[in-house]
Order: sequence, then structure tokens, then C-alpha cells
Amino acid sequence: MRLTDCHNFHDFRRLAKRRVPGPIFNYIDGGADDEVTLRRNTGAFEDVDLVPNILRGVGDVDLSVTVLGQKLALPVYLSPTALQRLFHHQGERATAAAAEAFGTMFGCSSLGTVAMEELAKKHRTPQCYQFYFHKDRGLNRAMMQKAREAGIQVMMLTVDSITGGNRERDLRTGFSIPFRLTAGGIAQFAMKPAWGINYLLHEKFSLPQLDAHIDMKGDTLTIGRYFTEMLDPSMDWDDVARMAEEWGGPFCLKGVMSTEDARRAADIGCSGVVLSNHGGRQLDGSRTGFDQLDEIVQAVGDRLDVIMDGGIQRGTHVLKALSLGAKAVGLGRFYLFALAAAGQAGIERALGQMKAELIRDMRLMGAKSVADLNRGNLRFR
Ligand code: LAC
Repeated sequence: MRLTDCHNFHDFRRLAKRRVPGPIFNYIDGGADDEVTLRRNTGAFEDVDLVPNILRGVGDVDLSVTVLGQKLALPVYLSPTALQRLFHHQGERATAAAAEAFGTMFGCSSLGTVAMEELAKKHRTPQCYQFYFHKDRGLNRAMMQKAREAGIQVMMLTVDSITGGNRERDLRTGFSIPFRLTAGGIAQFAMKPAWGINYLLHEKFSLPQLDAHIDMKGDTLTIGRYFTEMLDPSMDWDDVARMAEEWGGPFCLKGVMSTEDARRAADIGCSGVVLSNHGGRQLDGSRTGFDQLDEIVQAVGDRLDVIMDGGIQRGTHVLKALSLGAKAVGLGRFYLFALAAAGQAGIERALGQMKAELIRDMRLMGAKSVADLNRGNLRFR
């Protein structure tokens, strides 16, 4: 199977599975507990049908949106995700370059494996910085300062990971960072020699956003331990209000699910909320961003940008979210499997397919621009 055999999400996922060691594939692919929310994220889109309009003169289709003060050529952006150089040696460099090629935003994670400053210097496309609120307030201040100096446009604080989700696939495989070659890992390595050679030949694994503050020498860390030991479970609305004020620019909460919380986010001056359950990786049984979208847009859509992520595999999923009033939609595994499959070329191919689907589906919906989509274009089953 080659890159040219990849025509949709499922193909990229299959190719990724062939290319990377099992523990890494399962880290990307897996969710919490019984993975009910993980499945529901995509399943939710099937509870709603599109109602197209005809004869609207759809020769030219404009896919651009403005979200969190950023003008994007596409209504999708590459959501911040951790550890990308583990998936492919190009890591975040591939993600940023592909986002720029398509005129959209990408996110850099606190657990990113390339420095956000490097990416900001190299690329003109908007970047959001995914922030984890650590117990160490000095680290929080230093990270904000670094992001400001780097010229990062959007601050995105993750609020659904106050403690580690129960990812049983990772428990089973022993996935940890830096990726450790356990006995099982060595067998995996032998089975994926191309990945292994690239991993060894390229710069050593590191977490540049955190390295100055966290000493991982000789130690390994699981994602669950990072969340549970280093993040501050006492974080509250006052802390976030202070942080938003200190940041001063577009500030967004990622992981909001309730209407009450979305209202509160507007009250403390947030520019946006991302309705997200962290790709089904945290609280299993949680509602999905798409399921909550209608209610939250109606409640606060005039006060801040409502964005959603989770489970997006198709252009029509994006159109359903936009029809309910989402200002933009975040992609996660959609581009991560493409990255794992083939680096920058993989992400560009996946984004090219998403763009082609969006243009085709907008035409079939009778929509010339995102503003033409509305609730009248949907029926709930
Ligand atoms: C995860 C974190 C790191 O879901 O975002 O694994």
C-alpha cells in the first residue's frame, strides 16, 4: 500500500498502521475506557441529514472563514496534538508546512516535539499554542512569555485534561515518552525498520516547550502521569480569567461541553470555545462536540466563536458542523494518520482531498460560501 492508494481517512489510517510501531499507532488511534465517546464522535454526524438547495449558481465556491480573528482559506484547521516527531520524523514541521500550503491554522502543543518559535519564524500561517496549565506557575508564565515573543496569534487552553484519561491500549502496550525500547518495543522496531531508522537518524526526541522545566533524564513519562502529576487540578475560572487578561490576544478554551461553561467563558472575555472531548481520550461517555453544538451556538454564538472538533473524517461532517453555526472545525487524527503514513506529503494529500470534498459538497448543497449554510440545511433524525 502506497500514499497514492490513500483516498480517505480509512486508507491513511491503514497505511499509518503499517508504517509505525504498534504502541505508537495505538496511542494515536485509541480512546479512554470502552472508547464509546471515540466512536460516537464520528457516529454523531449520522444522526443528522443534509438538506441541499438547488439552482444557486455555485460556479465559484469560497471556503474561507474568519475565526479567532484569523482569516483562513479553509473552514478546517490542524488541531494541536502532542509528540508528532514520534509519528513521523518530520513531525510538527510537516504539519505547519502543510497548513501553510492550504492557508489554514495549525496548533503547536505544550507536548510538541518542535519548538513553537521555530515554526512561527518559518511559517506565515496562523499558529495557535495549545497550553496545559501546570502546577508550576513559573513554567506557565515562561510558556506564555515565550509564545508572546514568538508572535503566536492564538492561545488555546486545554481544560478537559485536568487528570489523565484511562487509555487502556497504552497500558497494554506500555506506551511512554520518550518512546522506550522495551522487549516488545524492540520486536516492533524490527517490524518497522524504516520508521526505526528514521527515528534513530534524526534529531533526538525532545519536548522543547517543556525541556527547560521538566527533567526527564533517564526517566520515562506516560501521558497519564504527565497530566496527573504535572497539571494543576485546582485550576479554576479565576486562574483562567487572569490568564486570558494577561495574554491580551485571541484566547480560547478547548474542551468545553456545557452551555453554562460556554457562557462563563464569554463572561471572562474568551474569544472562543472549542467543543471537544479530546478525541474521546479523556472522559468516556461524554457528549460530543457536534451533539452540543446547536445548543451552545444558540446560547452564546453571538458573544464568542464556537468551534468544534472530534471525529471529523469527511467534508460532509464539516458542512454539518458549519450549518449549525461552528465558526471552524478542528482536525486531529484526520491529519495525524496522514502524517504517520507519509509526513508532509501525506498531510498535503489528505488536506487536498478534504478541500476537494468541501468544494464538491458545497456545490451539491447549493452553497457558494460558508455563510450560505444554516440550520435550514439540516434535519435531525
Ligand atoms: C493526548 C494528549 C497529550 O491526548 O493531548 O494524548
